[in-house]
Amino acid sequence: MLQNKVAVITGASSGLGRAIALRYAQEGASLILADLNEEGGEHTLSLLPEASKARAKFLRTDVTKEAEVEAAVALAVSSFGHLDIMMANAGIGAPGFLSQLSQADFEKVIAVNLTGVFLCAKHAFRAMQVKGGAILTMASVAGLQGTMKLGGYGPSKAAVVQLTQTLALEGARFNIRANALAPVWTESPMVDGFVKGLRAGHEAGVKRLTADIPLGRLGKPEEVAAAAAFLASDQASFITGIVLPIDGGHLAGRIPVL
Ligand SMILES: NC(=O)c1ccc[n+]([C@@H]2O[C@H](COP(=O)([O-])OP(=O)(O)OC[C@H]3O[C@@H](n4cnc5c(N)ncnc54)[C@H](O)[C@@H]3O)[C@@H](O)[C@H]2O)c1
Repeated sequence: MLQNKVAVITGASSGLGRAIALRYAQEGASLILADLNEEGGEHTLSLLPEASKARAKFLRTDVTKEAEVEAAVALAVSSFGHLDIMMANAGIGAPGFLSQLSQADFEKVIAVNLTGVFLCAKHAFRAMQVKGGAILTMASVAGLQGTMKLGGYGPSKAAVVQLTQTLALEGARFNIRANALAPVWTESPMVDGFVKGLRAGHEAGVKRLTADIPLGRLGKPEEVAAAAAFLASDQASFITGIVLPIDGGHLAGRIPVL
């Protein structure tokens, strides 16, 4: 699906970003893996199919620093000739009741989840103006409705949705498509941390998170990666400005207590 495409994936050292990197590599893309976590990045590189290892590089990148994001985009262009896909996936949580969230934690989640996506989108857009491309952002179902204990995280993702819609409008004349992914709770270190914070034990915690997911389970990183591959590919050539829930039916409505 992604033969001859060049992609930057942020947050590729863990969780969903790692699964997306593996899927993009399987689909034939050349990759720049951009993340703060060097050890995790090396691990992601080691998991790539042998044939794609020569087409992948890791660059330590803090998405909140403009010069570092610019360098990741520049590395894609200098290594592989152009940039086709930006998967702005890096993000952090800031769980806790809003009334107890510190200003520092609120500002940090906005910095990584929103400013980071803004910087990735801005520099990818500039590189893609020549021949078009696909910008994907990582939103969340928590950006589409309120969620208890996500009073900093949710608003950061809501803003990502609107940023993506604006990108789609501004990118259209350059054939730059922009779409947002909105997963529900998906198996990952981030969700493990959230479950731990519920202090109900792992099994009971997961049960609480999945109570309003009709398919009755957490999402899998590979399921998010499948959507990320499709939206980045030419098969989605007429799709721009959407927010795609990957949510086991969560947004379809309430599950009645029968
Ligand atoms: N797991 C879920 O249930 C879920 C649901 C909806 C949305 N998301 C979103 O998916 C994305 C990935 O989440 P995950 O569950 O894989 O989390 P994760 O914690 O496993 O991975 C996040 C990655 O982002 C990196 N990162 C953090 N801050 C960074 C920075 N400033 N610069 C560069 N890299 C940075 C981390 O080092 C890590 O490798 C996030 O944007 C998250 O909000 C996750």
